[in-house]
Amino acid sequence: MTVREALAAAERRLGAAGCETAWLDARVLLSHATGWSETRIVAEGRDSLSPEAEAAFEEALGRRERREPVAYVTGRKEFRSLDFAVDARVLVPRPETELLVESALELLRKRAAERDRDLVVVDVGTGSGAIAVSIAHALAEAKLRASVRLVALDRSGEALTVAVENARRLLAPPRSVRFLRSDLTSALRGASVDLVAANPPYVAPAELATAPPELAYEPRLALDGRGVDGLAVVEHLLADSRRVLRPGGRILCEIGSTQGETALRRAESSGFESAKLLRDLSGVARVLVAEVPGASGEEVRRP
Ligand SMILES: C[S@@+](CC[C@H](N)C(=O)[O-])C[C@H]1O[C@@H](n2cnc3c(N)ncnc32)[C@H](O)[C@@H]1O
Repeated sequence: MTVREALAAAERRLGAAGCETAWLDARVLLSHATGWSETRIVAEGRDSLSPEAEAAFEEALGRRERREPVAYVTGRKEFRSLDFAVDARVLVPRPETELLVESALELLRKRAAERDRDLVVVDVGTGSGAIAVSIAHALAEAKLRASVRLVALDRSGEALTVAVENARRLLAPPRSVRFLRSDLTSALRGASVDLVAANPPYVAPAELATAPPELAYEPRLALDGRGVDGLAVVEHLLADSRRVLRPGGRILCEIGSTQGETALRRAESSGFESAKLLRDLSGVARVLVAEVPGASGEEVRRP
């Protein structure tokens, strides 16, 4: 079978299985099965597939037809140009989370230029490590006055294993992020943190019941935001973060596309000030930002 024939048949099968991006998925899976780049696959459509590649492609296609996420089939997901290893122990990092990382980096660069003490950043619910590892990676080369210390927390020990492995592969030195098992921020001491950057679970339980089949493969702990509106975990996170953030410290928290106004009210009732929403390029509110009242500038206490 030629590459072109294999791709065309795969696109038909994946389309029939309800995959919305059937052509793209087929290309990515064939690249995974052959070890060829996607460019080579498109350019060399008349080449024949080896029996081994055909078998590997068939196996990958079967999994995708059952609506397993492409990233779990390939074991890889690119996030901010970094190649994260992923599997069913962690959420597949989403492009919308890049907005949160960009905002965190902007704030950290500004704050690090203003002061000469360490800044402490905490990624709550680190999953694959996407947020903490990409912040550490981006700051590794930066010439900042203050150094930034990163702590990544998760309640799931299995997720932390994946995150530590990603840090080992993507960071030099990998120890620039400290990983801890923790229910929200319970492992940290009070008033020690400058920034909480979190993508907590925020899907409403009722929505999970009608979600695309791909979501059933991801850990429920990573998705279920609990409460009627899916914001119960966010609400706990706000209260917990209020405890560990220093005066003037901030929280950046990803939220669902319809949760902005409610999240703003919850931030205010948790004692934050200057709460606002950051929007993606389509104008959809995706990140809640809020600040702990009071001036910053005191010495950092180590978490
Ligand atoms: C939406 S996923 C985010 C993963 C990763 N930060 C990302 O952006 O791709 C949420 C993560 O929060 C973790 N989590 C859920 N409840 C938690 C809790 N109470 N304390 C700590 N982590 C929690 C889950 O295990 C999961 O890894």
